[in-house]
Amino acid sequence: AQAEKGGYKHFMLKEIYEQPKAIADTISGKLSIFEKKNEKILTNFDKIQIVACGTSFHAGLIGKFFIESISRIPVSVDYASEYRYRNPIIDKKTLIIAISQSGETADTLAAVRLARKKSAKVVAICNVIGSTITREADYTIYTHAGPEISVASTKAFTTQLAALFLFAVEVAKVRKTIDEETENKLLNELSEIPKKLKTFLDSENEKKLIRNIALEFYNSQDALYLGRFVNYPIALEGALKLKEISYIHAEGYPAGEMKHGPIALIDEKMPVVVIAPKDRVYEKIVSNIEEVKARKGKVIAVTNANCPEIKKLADFTIEIPTTEELLYPFLTVVPLQLFAYHIADFLGYDVDQPRNLAKSVTVE
Ligand code: G6P
Repeated sequence: AQAEKGGYKHFMLKEIYEQPKAIADTISGKLSIFEKKNEKILTNFDKIQIVACGTSFHAGLIGKFFIESISRIPVSVDYASEYRYRNPIIDKKTLIIAISQSGETADTLAAVRLARKKSAKVVAICNVIGSTITREADYTIYTHAGPEISVASTKAFTTQLAALFLFAVEVAKVRKTIDEETENKLLNELSEIPKKLKTFLDSENEKKLIRNIALEFYNSQDALYLGRFVNYPIALEGALKLKEISYIHAEGYPAGEMKHGPIALIDEKMPVVVIAPKDRVYEKIVSNIEEVKARKGKVIAVTNANCPEIKKLADFTIEIPTTEELLYPFLTVVPLQLFAYHIADFLGYDVDQPRNLAKSVTVE
Protein backbone atom coordinates (compact mmCIF):
# COMPACT_ATOMS: atom_id res chain seq x y z
CA ALA A 1 0.00 0.00 0.00
CA GLN A 2 2.93 2.31 0.71
CA ALA A 3 4.08 1.95 -2.89
CA GLU A 4 0.61 2.77 -4.18
CA LYS A 5 0.78 6.03 -2.28
CA GLY A 6 3.69 7.03 -4.48
CA GLY A 7 5.77 8.42 -1.62
CA TYR A 8 2.92 10.42 -0.12
CA LYS A 9 1.88 9.80 3.49
CA HIS A 10 -1.77 9.35 2.56
CA PHE A 11 -3.86 8.72 -0.54
CA MET A 12 -5.65 11.98 0.06
CA LEU A 13 -2.44 13.97 -0.25
CA LYS A 14 -1.43 12.01 -3.35
CA GLU A 15 -4.81 12.64 -4.92
CA ILE A 16 -4.66 16.37 -4.13
CA TYR A 17 -1.34 16.50 -5.97
CA GLU A 18 -2.72 14.50 -8.89
CA GLN A 19 -5.26 17.18 -9.69
CA PRO A 20 -3.36 19.03 -12.42
CA LYS A 21 -2.95 15.81 -14.38
CA ALA A 22 -6.47 14.58 -13.62
CA ILE A 23 -8.03 17.82 -14.86
CA ALA A 24 -5.88 17.74 -17.99
CA ASP A 25 -7.09 14.17 -18.60
CA THR A 26 -10.73 15.21 -18.23
CA ILE A 27 -10.20 17.98 -20.76
CA SER A 28 -8.48 15.74 -23.27
CA GLY A 29 -10.93 12.89 -22.60
CA LYS A 30 -12.73 13.76 -25.83
CA LEU A 31 -16.08 13.57 -24.19
CA SER A 32 -18.12 11.15 -26.22
CA ILE A 33 -21.27 13.10 -25.54
CA PHE A 34 -20.01 15.84 -27.82
CA GLU A 35 -19.93 13.69 -30.89
CA LYS A 36 -22.19 14.88 -33.69
CA LYS A 37 -24.74 12.13 -33.22
CA ASN A 38 -25.46 13.37 -29.73
CA GLU A 39 -26.09 16.93 -30.72
CA LYS A 40 -29.82 16.46 -30.28
CA ILE A 41 -29.50 15.90 -26.61
CA LEU A 42 -27.75 19.24 -26.32
CA THR A 43 -30.62 21.11 -27.94
CA ASN A 44 -33.66 19.14 -26.99
CA PHE A 45 -34.30 20.40 -23.47
CA ASP A 46 -35.34 23.63 -21.84
CA LYS A 47 -34.25 23.02 -18.28
CA ILE A 48 -31.65 21.05 -16.38
CA GLN A 49 -31.88 19.35 -13.03
CA ILE A 50 -28.64 18.32 -11.37
CA VAL A 51 -28.76 15.57 -8.74
CA ALA A 52 -25.88 14.38 -6.58
CA CYS A 53 -24.71 13.74 -3.00
CA GLY A 54 -21.84 14.95 -0.84
CA THR A 55 -18.91 16.53 -2.63
CA SER A 56 -20.48 15.76 -6.01
CA PHE A 57 -23.44 17.90 -4.96
CA HIS A 58 -21.07 20.82 -4.41
CA ALA A 59 -19.72 20.32 -7.93
CA GLY A 60 -23.33 20.47 -9.08
CA LEU A 61 -23.87 23.83 -7.36
CA ILE A 62 -20.90 25.22 -9.28
CA GLY A 63 -22.15 23.55 -12.47
CA LYS A 64 -25.28 25.67 -12.15
CA PHE A 65 -23.14 28.82 -12.36
CA PHE A 66 -21.27 27.45 -15.39
CA ILE A 67 -24.36 26.36 -17.31
CA GLU A 68 -26.56 29.34 -16.49
CA SER A 69 -23.94 31.96 -17.24
CA ILE A 70 -22.48 30.33 -20.35
CA SER A 71 -25.45 28.51 -21.88
CA ARG A 72 -28.33 30.50 -20.33
CA ILE A 73 -30.44 27.46 -19.47
CA PRO A 74 -32.17 27.33 -16.08
CA VAL A 75 -30.61 24.80 -13.73
CA SER A 76 -31.81 23.45 -10.40
CA VAL A 77 -29.54 21.47 -8.10
CA ASP A 78 -30.84 18.92 -5.62
CA TYR A 79 -29.46 16.47 -3.15
CA ALA A 80 -30.50 13.17 -4.72
CA SER A 81 -31.96 12.07 -1.38
CA GLU A 82 -34.30 15.08 -1.44
CA TYR A 83 -35.07 15.02 -5.14
CA ARG A 84 -36.48 11.53 -5.09
CA TYR A 85 -39.10 12.40 -2.48
CA ARG A 86 -40.17 15.86 -3.54
CA ASN A 87 -42.14 14.98 -6.65
CA PRO A 88 -39.97 17.12 -8.96
CA ILE A 89 -41.41 18.54 -12.18
CA ILE A 90 -39.88 16.37 -14.88
CA ASP A 91 -40.88 16.11 -18.53
CA LYS A 92 -39.45 15.22 -21.92
CA LYS A 93 -37.76 18.62 -22.14
CA THR A 94 -35.91 18.13 -18.85
CA LEU A 95 -32.31 17.04 -18.87
CA ILE A 96 -31.00 15.40 -15.71
CA ILE A 97 -27.31 15.55 -14.89
CA ALA A 98 -26.40 12.93 -12.29
CA ILE A 99 -22.96 13.54 -10.80
CA SER A 100 -21.30 10.66 -8.98
CA GLN A 101 -17.66 9.73 -8.56
CA SER A 102 -18.42 6.07 -7.89
CA GLY A 103 -21.54 5.75 -10.01
CA GLU A 104 -22.97 3.58 -7.23
CA THR A 105 -24.54 6.00 -4.74
CA ALA A 106 -28.00 4.62 -3.95
CA ASP A 107 -29.83 7.95 -3.74
CA THR A 108 -28.33 9.27 -6.97
CA LEU A 109 -29.17 6.04 -8.75
CA ALA A 110 -32.77 6.24 -7.49
CA ALA A 111 -33.02 9.81 -8.79
CA VAL A 112 -31.80 8.65 -12.21
CA ARG A 113 -34.39 5.86 -12.29
CA LEU A 114 -37.17 8.23 -11.29
CA ALA A 115 -36.26 10.77 -13.98
CA ARG A 116 -36.01 8.15 -16.71
CA LYS A 117 -39.37 6.73 -15.73
CA LYS A 118 -40.77 10.20 -16.34
CA SER A 119 -39.14 10.19 -19.79
CA ALA A 120 -36.36 12.67 -19.10
CA LYS A 121 -32.91 12.13 -20.59
CA VAL A 122 -30.06 11.53 -18.17
CA VAL A 123 -26.43 12.53 -18.56
CA ALA A 124 -24.12 11.00 -15.96
CA ILE A 125 -20.85 12.59 -14.91
CA CYS A 126 -18.92 9.69 -13.46
CA ASN A 127 -15.42 8.55 -12.67
CA VAL A 128 -15.83 4.78 -12.50
CA ILE A 129 -16.14 3.17 -15.91
CA GLY A 130 -19.04 0.76 -16.27
CA SER A 131 -20.57 1.66 -12.88
CA THR A 132 -24.31 1.24 -12.36
CA ILE A 133 -25.23 4.88 -12.96
CA THR A 134 -23.31 4.95 -16.26
CA ARG A 135 -25.19 1.86 -17.37
CA GLU A 136 -28.58 3.37 -16.57
CA ALA A 137 -27.96 6.88 -17.91
CA ASP A 138 -28.55 7.80 -21.54
CA TYR A 139 -25.06 9.30 -21.88
CA THR A 140 -21.99 9.42 -19.70
CA ILE A 141 -19.24 11.99 -19.47
CA TYR A 142 -16.27 10.30 -17.81
CA THR A 143 -14.03 12.40 -15.64
CA HIS A 144 -10.93 10.20 -16.13
CA ALA A 145 -9.59 11.18 -12.70
CA GLY A 146 -8.12 7.71 -12.10
CA PRO A 147 -8.98 5.69 -8.98
CA GLU A 148 -9.80 7.81 -5.95
CA ILE A 149 -9.01 5.86 -2.77
CA SER A 150 -9.32 8.48 -0.04
CA VAL A 151 -12.87 8.65 1.32
CA ALA A 152 -12.69 12.45 1.25
CA SER A 153 -13.05 13.37 -2.39
CA THR A 154 -10.57 15.76 -4.04
CA LYS A 155 -9.56 15.04 -7.62
CA ALA A 156 -12.98 13.61 -8.41
CA PHE A 157 -14.43 16.99 -7.49
CA THR A 158 -12.18 19.19 -9.62
CA THR A 159 -12.55 16.85 -12.59
CA GLN A 160 -16.34 16.98 -12.22
CA LEU A 161 -15.99 20.76 -12.42
CA ALA A 162 -13.99 20.43 -15.62
CA ALA A 163 -16.62 18.11 -17.15
CA LEU A 164 -19.40 20.52 -16.19
CA PHE A 165 -17.53 23.48 -17.66
CA LEU A 166 -16.92 21.62 -20.94
CA PHE A 167 -20.57 20.64 -21.00
CA ALA A 168 -21.67 24.26 -20.48
CA VAL A 169 -19.45 25.50 -23.30
CA GLU A 170 -20.58 22.75 -25.65
CA VAL A 171 -24.25 23.41 -25.01
CA ALA A 172 -23.66 27.13 -25.54
CA LYS A 173 -21.88 26.42 -28.79
CA VAL A 174 -24.64 24.21 -30.16
CA ARG A 175 -27.33 26.64 -29.06
CA LYS A 176 -25.31 29.63 -30.22
CA THR A 177 -25.49 31.51 -26.94
CA ILE A 178 -21.79 32.35 -27.25
CA ASP A 179 -19.70 33.30 -30.27
CA GLU A 180 -16.61 31.46 -31.38
CA GLU A 181 -14.26 33.96 -29.82
CA THR A 182 -15.84 33.57 -26.39
CA GLU A 183 -15.86 29.82 -26.77
CA ASN A 184 -12.15 29.76 -27.55
CA LYS A 185 -11.37 32.13 -24.72
CA LEU A 186 -13.24 30.02 -22.17
CA LEU A 187 -11.68 26.77 -23.36
CA ASN A 188 -8.23 28.33 -23.36
CA GLU A 189 -8.64 29.56 -19.82
CA LEU A 190 -9.77 26.08 -18.76
CA SER A 191 -6.78 24.46 -20.42
CA GLU A 192 -4.48 26.78 -18.43
CA ILE A 193 -5.89 25.53 -15.12
CA PRO A 194 -3.71 22.39 -14.74
CA LYS A 195 -0.54 24.45 -15.16
CA LYS A 196 -1.69 27.10 -12.70
CA LEU A 197 -2.67 24.49 -10.17
CA LYS A 198 0.67 22.79 -10.53
CA THR A 199 2.52 26.05 -9.92
CA PHE A 200 0.51 26.54 -6.76
CA LEU A 201 1.00 22.95 -5.54
CA ASP A 202 4.74 23.12 -6.22
CA SER A 203 5.26 26.37 -4.34
CA GLU A 204 7.26 25.68 -1.17
CA ASN A 205 6.06 28.95 0.35
CA GLU A 206 2.40 28.10 -0.02
CA LYS A 207 2.99 24.56 1.25
CA LYS A 208 4.72 25.83 4.38
CA LEU A 209 2.11 28.52 4.88
CA ILE A 210 -0.84 26.12 4.76
CA ARG A 211 0.87 23.74 7.21
CA ASN A 212 1.53 26.65 9.56
CA ILE A 213 -2.06 27.80 9.41
CA ALA A 214 -3.19 24.24 10.15
CA LEU A 215 -0.80 24.14 13.09
CA GLU A 216 -2.31 27.35 14.42
CA PHE A 217 -5.92 26.12 14.24
CA TYR A 218 -5.94 22.34 14.67
CA ASN A 219 -7.27 22.67 18.21
CA SER A 220 -10.27 24.76 17.16
CA GLN A 221 -13.78 23.59 18.03
CA ASP A 222 -15.47 25.25 15.08
CA ALA A 223 -14.66 26.95 11.81
CA LEU A 224 -16.63 29.16 9.50
CA TYR A 225 -16.11 29.23 5.72
CA LEU A 226 -17.36 32.17 3.70
CA GLY A 227 -17.53 32.67 -0.04
CA ARG A 228 -19.73 34.40 -2.58
CA PHE A 229 -20.84 33.84 -6.14
CA VAL A 230 -19.15 30.81 -7.67
CA ASN A 231 -17.01 30.36 -4.56
CA TYR A 232 -19.96 30.03 -2.23
CA PRO A 233 -20.14 26.29 -2.98
CA ILE A 234 -16.39 26.16 -2.31
CA ALA A 235 -17.12 27.44 1.20
CA LEU A 236 -19.49 24.48 1.59
CA GLU A 237 -16.90 22.09 0.22
CA GLY A 238 -14.11 23.46 2.41
CA ALA A 239 -16.29 23.03 5.48
CA LEU A 240 -17.26 19.51 4.42
CA LYS A 241 -13.61 18.49 3.98
CA LEU A 242 -12.76 19.71 7.48
CA LYS A 243 -15.74 17.94 9.07
CA GLU A 244 -15.13 14.68 7.24
CA ILE A 245 -11.53 14.09 8.21
CA SER A 246 -10.73 16.25 11.25
CA TYR A 247 -14.10 16.00 13.06
CA ILE A 248 -14.09 19.76 13.68
CA HIS A 249 -17.48 21.32 13.34
CA ALA A 250 -17.48 23.62 10.33
CA GLU A 251 -20.05 25.58 8.46
CA GLY A 252 -19.98 27.07 4.97
CA TYR A 253 -22.02 30.18 4.31
CA PRO A 254 -22.54 32.75 1.58
CA ALA A 255 -20.61 35.71 2.96
CA GLY A 256 -23.43 38.19 2.37
CA GLU A 257 -25.70 36.10 4.57
CA MET A 258 -23.31 36.22 7.54
CA LYS A 259 -25.15 39.17 9.06
CA HIS A 260 -28.30 37.06 9.32
CA GLY A 261 -26.87 34.55 11.75
CA PRO A 262 -23.28 33.28 11.71
CA ILE A 263 -21.89 36.66 12.75
CA ALA A 264 -23.22 35.89 16.23
CA LEU A 265 -20.69 33.05 16.48
CA ILE A 266 -17.63 35.13 15.78
CA ASP A 267 -15.19 35.75 18.62
CA GLU A 268 -11.40 35.80 18.96
CA LYS A 269 -11.25 32.00 18.87
CA MET A 270 -13.18 31.52 15.65
CA PRO A 271 -11.21 30.75 12.48
CA VAL A 272 -13.00 32.21 9.47
CA VAL A 273 -11.81 31.01 6.10
CA VAL A 274 -12.76 33.56 3.46
CA ILE A 275 -12.56 32.72 -0.23
CA ALA A 276 -11.94 36.05 -1.90
CA PRO A 277 -10.38 36.03 -5.36
CA LYS A 278 -10.47 39.12 -7.57
CA ASP A 279 -13.90 38.66 -9.11
CA ARG A 280 -17.13 40.66 -9.37
CA VAL A 281 -17.82 40.36 -5.61
CA TYR A 282 -14.29 41.15 -4.43
CA GLU A 283 -15.16 44.55 -2.91
CA LYS A 284 -18.17 43.02 -1.18
CA ILE A 285 -16.17 40.29 0.41
CA VAL A 286 -13.53 42.72 1.60
CA SER A 287 -16.26 44.40 3.65
CA ASN A 288 -17.31 40.98 4.95
CA ILE A 289 -13.73 40.47 6.14
CA GLU A 290 -13.86 43.87 7.88
CA GLU A 291 -17.01 42.75 9.69
CA VAL A 292 -15.27 39.58 10.88
CA LYS A 293 -12.20 41.50 12.04
CA ALA A 294 -14.37 44.03 13.90
CA ARG A 295 -15.51 41.05 16.02
CA LYS A 296 -11.93 39.82 16.42
CA GLY A 297 -12.39 36.65 14.35
CA LYS A 298 -9.25 35.09 12.88
CA VAL A 299 -9.28 35.45 9.12
CA ILE A 300 -7.63 33.03 6.72
CA ALA A 301 -8.09 34.50 3.26
CA VAL A 302 -7.70 32.72 -0.07
CA THR A 303 -7.11 35.44 -2.63
CA ASN A 304 -4.81 36.57 -5.46
CA ALA A 305 -1.40 38.15 -5.19
CA ASN A 306 -1.53 41.95 -5.09
CA CYS A 307 -4.66 42.27 -3.00
CA PRO A 308 -3.37 44.77 -0.42
CA GLU A 309 -6.84 45.37 1.08
CA ILE A 310 -7.05 41.75 2.13
CA LYS A 311 -3.41 41.40 3.13
CA LYS A 312 -3.87 44.28 5.55
CA LEU A 313 -6.97 42.81 7.16
CA ALA A 314 -6.45 39.04 7.18
CA ASP A 315 -4.39 37.11 9.73
CA PHE A 316 -3.21 34.75 6.99
CA THR A 317 -3.32 35.17 3.23
CA ILE A 318 -3.01 32.26 0.81
CA GLU A 319 -2.32 33.45 -2.74
CA ILE A 320 -3.65 31.62 -5.76
CA PRO A 321 -3.01 32.33 -9.47
CA THR A 322 -5.32 34.53 -11.53
CA THR A 323 -7.94 33.13 -13.92
CA GLU A 324 -11.29 33.87 -15.57
CA GLU A 325 -13.72 34.50 -12.71
CA LEU A 326 -15.94 31.45 -13.31
CA LEU A 327 -12.91 29.18 -13.04
CA TYR A 328 -11.71 30.24 -9.59
CA PRO A 329 -13.26 27.22 -7.82
CA PHE A 330 -10.59 24.99 -9.39
CA LEU A 331 -7.92 27.05 -7.67
CA THR A 332 -9.63 28.07 -4.42
CA VAL A 333 -10.68 24.56 -3.35
CA VAL A 334 -7.15 23.16 -3.33
CA PRO A 335 -5.78 25.16 -0.37
CA LEU A 336 -8.91 24.18 1.57
CA GLN A 337 -8.30 20.50 0.80
CA LEU A 338 -4.73 20.87 2.04
CA PHE A 339 -5.80 22.81 5.13
CA ALA A 340 -8.25 20.05 6.15
CA TYR A 341 -5.65 17.40 5.34
CA HIS A 342 -2.95 18.92 7.54
CA ILE A 343 -5.31 19.50 10.44
CA ALA A 344 -6.48 15.86 10.36
CA ASP A 345 -2.88 14.71 10.10
CA PHE A 346 -1.75 16.88 13.04
CA LEU A 347 -4.62 15.45 15.07
CA GLY A 348 -3.39 11.97 14.22
CA TYR A 349 -6.57 10.78 12.55
CA ASP A 350 -6.91 8.14 9.88
CA VAL A 351 -7.10 10.62 7.02
CA ASP A 352 -8.00 8.16 4.28
CA GLN A 353 -10.58 6.23 6.31
CA PRO A 354 -12.47 8.67 8.53
CA ARG A 355 -14.80 7.24 11.14
CA ASN A 356 -18.43 6.56 10.20
CA LEU A 357 -17.92 7.40 6.52
CA ALA A 358 -17.79 5.19 3.44
CA LYS A 359 -16.27 5.87 0.03
CA SER A 360 -19.50 5.01 -1.65
CA VAL A 361 -22.88 4.75 0.01
CA THR A 362 -24.85 2.02 -1.72
CA VAL A 363 -27.71 1.92 0.76
CA GLU A 364 -30.34 4.58 1.23
C1 G6P B 1 -19.79 9.49 0.17
C2 G6P B 1 -18.32 9.88 0.08
C3 G6P B 1 -18.18 11.31 -0.43
C4 G6P B 1 -18.91 11.47 -1.76
C5 G6P B 1 -20.37 11.04 -1.65
C6 G6P B 1 -21.02 10.94 -3.03
O1 G6P B 1 -20.40 10.22 1.18
O2 G6P B 1 -17.72 9.76 1.34
O3 G6P B 1 -16.81 11.63 -0.60
O4 G6P B 1 -18.85 12.80 -2.17
O5 G6P B 1 -20.46 9.73 -1.07
O6 G6P B 1 -20.37 9.92 -3.74
P1 G6P B 1 -20.42 9.77 -5.30
O7 G6P B 1 -19.61 8.53 -5.59
O8 G6P B 1 -21.85 9.60 -5.69
O9 G6P B 1 -19.84 10.99 -5.90
